[in-house]
Amino acid sequence: MNRFRFLALASFVVWCSALIGLSAQGGGAGAAGGGDQQTRGKALYNDKCASCHMENLKGSTETPPLTGDMFWQNWETYSANNFVEQIRTTMPEDNPGSLMREQYIDIVAYILKTNEVPFAGDLPGDADALKKITIKKKE
Ligand code: HEC
Repeated sequence: MNRFRFLALASFVVWCSALIGLSAQGGGAGAAGGGDQQTRGKALYNDKCASCHMENLKGSTETPPLTGDMFWQNWETYSANNFVEQIRTTMPEDNPGSLMREQYIDIVAYILKTNEVPFAGDLPGDADALKKITIKKKE
């Protein structure tokens, strides 16, 4: 193979992997766009959080639960925005801030719904709107 053909082949390989990278990314975004917020949040939670906090959100000997008495003691009266920001800046513990903000919001929607915190529709992405949602027990 002459040098030119080798280079052409090499750049073709680079081009292909860029294309694969792009379509993988597109696929991810497409998946995130489909389905409702809590379904996405649950899938993300199981993928990124359940290894430590467990699929049932009940935590382990090393990890606090995200449901039950502990959840209410720590979070009741705080806003959904407080909860999102706490998680976004500290979790996953082994790689804080590694998710997109919308992904954190999806996960929080799932956690709040599991705890039956009352809010209508989807959790909003907007911080001011999130501040208006208070974490409280359902009546
Ligand atoms: C590698 C293990 C690990 C992973 C993965 C992880 N966490 Fe945690 N998480 C912890 C530990 C340990 C604590 C307690 C120490 C602390 O607050 O930093 C904690 C604390 C928390 C708290 C505070 C609990 C409270 O009531 O004060 C929240 C909320 C939380 N994690 C949510 C999440 C979410 C959501 C994810 C997924 C995006 C996640 N965590 C992923 C280990 C983990």
